[in-house]
Amino acid sequence: MEVVIASGPEHAGSIGADLVDAQLARNPASNIGLATGSSPLPLYRELIERCSAGRLSFEQARAFLLDEYVGLPDDHPESYRRFIERELTSQIDLPSSALAGPDGSMAGLPTAGARYEQLIEQAGGIDLQILGIGSNGHIGFNEPTSSLMSRTRSKMLTETTRRDNARFFGGDLELVPHHTVTQGIGTILDARHVVLIATGSSKARPVHLMVEGPLTAMVPASALQLHPHATIILDEESAADLVTAAYHREAYSQRPTGR
Ligand code: F6R
Repeated sequence: MEVVIASGPEHAGSIGADLVDAQLARNPASNIGLATGSSPLPLYRELIERCSAGRLSFEQARAFLLDEYVGLPDDHPESYRRFIERELTSQIDLPSSALAGPDGSMAGLPTAGARYEQLIEQAGGIDLQILGIGSNGHIGFNEPTSSLMSRTRSKMLTETTRRDNARFFGGDLELVPHHTVTQGIGTILDARHVVLIATGSSKARPVHLMVEGPLTAMVPASALQLHPHATIILDEESAADLVTAAYHREAYSQRPTGR
C-alpha cells in the first residue's frame, strides 16, 4: 500500500484529484468509480474547480457508483445517485448518461448485483476507484465478516454504520435504510487503481487496522493489502495510530516519479 499523509482534508482532496487528473490524462475515456459519504467531498470540490477552470474534462469518461441504498425512491435526496449528482457529476462535464449505479429498487434486487457486475465488465472494468472507510473498517458497504472475494450484492448495514450515516438523514436513525446494494470486496479489488481517502480522528483506528493489522474479514478494508496499486490518502488525525507513519512519510517524499 502506498500511504500518503496530507496536512489536512483539503490537501488530501487535492492529492486525490491529482491522481484522477493523471488517470484522465493517460486515458480520457477512463472508468472512474465513485464513493459517496463525506470523505471524498474535498476531492470532488477540487475536481469541480479544475473542470470549471478548463484544466480537466470528464467528457469521455464514465462513472460507476460504489453502492446504493435499497428501497429509497429514485428522487430521494440521500439516494447515492442523487448525492453524487448533487456533489459532483452535475457540476462537471460528465454526460448524465455516463453515470451508472447499482439498481437499489426492491423489484430489481434479485438481479441487481449480477447486472451491475456485467455492466462494469462490459465497460472494460474500473480504472480508478475512489473509496472511503467506515468507522468499523468497511469499504463500500462490505461490513465486517463480508467475504473477501464477494461480488456486487445486497448487504444489510450494521447498526454502527446506520448510526454513522444518520447525520445524512437529519440525525433520525429510523430513516436510514437497512440494506444496500454494494460492489463486493472482490469487485473493488478488480479496479486497476484504488484510492482511499480517510480523514479525521474517528478513522484512526480503522486506518491502523487496514494498513497494519492482519488481513481479516473483520476489517474488510484490510483486503486492500492484496491490491497491487492501492493509494491510501490520510490526514494527520486519521494517521495518528499508524506505527509506521514515519516510514510512509519518508517513502512518499522519496517516491520514484512517473507512477
Ligand atoms: C460510500 C461508502 C462507504 C463510505 C464510508 C465512509 O459510498 O461506500 O464505505 O465511504 O462509510 O463514509 P464517510 O466518508 O462519510 O465517513
